[in-house]
Amino acid sequence: MNQPIGIFDSGLGGLTVLKALAQKFPGESFCYVGDIARLPYGNKSPETIRKYGVQILDYLKRENVKALIIACNSASTVFLNEKHYQGLPLLNVIGPGSRAALAKSADKRIAVLGTSATIRSGAYGKTLRQLDPSAMVIERACPLFVPLAEEGMSADDITLAVARRYLQDIKDQAIATVVLGCTHYPLLKADILKALTPTTQLIESGEVLAEELSQLFAAGELRPASPGSVGELRIKITDLTDHFERLALQLMHPLSIGPLERIVL
Ligand code: DGL
Repeated sequence: MNQPIGIFDSGLGGLTVLKALAQKFPGESFCYVGDIARLPYGNKSPETIRKYGVQILDYLKRENVKALIIACNSASTVFLNEKHYQGLPLLNVIGPGSRAALAKSADKRIAVLGTSATIRSGAYGKTLRQLDPSAMVIERACPLFVPLAEEGMSADDITLAVARRYLQDIKDQAIATVVLGCTHYPLLKADILKALTPTTQLIESGEVLAEELSQLFAAGELRPASPGSVGELRIKITDLTDHFERLALQLMHPLSIGPLERIVL
């Protein structure tokens, strides 16, 4: 196995990021940690989220990864300006997501959906306004989306009703660019688009991180896997349930993943 890239999230949601990266870079190996024993992160304090994040980064470092990616938006907010961790490149989703939103938005009116922790931190709003002081940003916490996604309730009337409750005023204000500022939200994309309008431009963490990683390779800041290598995907979780395993396999299809491994941090 070539030297993997480490990636973590609080749970299932980060697999949307892992899949996007593995499809874009099939020669790279990835080592993913999903901290499902302590999910959700989105209703915890910055101190607790940071403590969990450090434990996982240390674990990944011991797994000999060549770079570290914080897929989780809630965890990204507490490592916002850190570009390295103990000598390894460290990526988070907030900067790349903000840049992608501004690049795609014609009128610079952007809505950001996230967990309570992400929205409370104001990380997206601050980053967007730093990048473009004329940007108009609405940040909206959608705390029920994570449990709905973890329960596999996409394209479901209950999820649609919740999405309408959270998103009606964003729709009324005709905001055309919406950042899915939580890795779980792409799993509910159909419901979110139905509650907004089908033409809404959704910015997803997986796509923006794939772009960011391309730039790191292009800039020579990270060594790509040697040509012709076939990447491996290792998924490690802090608790193992049949439910998680089933959803993980479904979500990663058609990519093949090794057996899920339960770890202690
Ligand atoms: N996936 C995490 C994020 O991107 C949130 C899920 C949670 O609350 O743990 O923010």
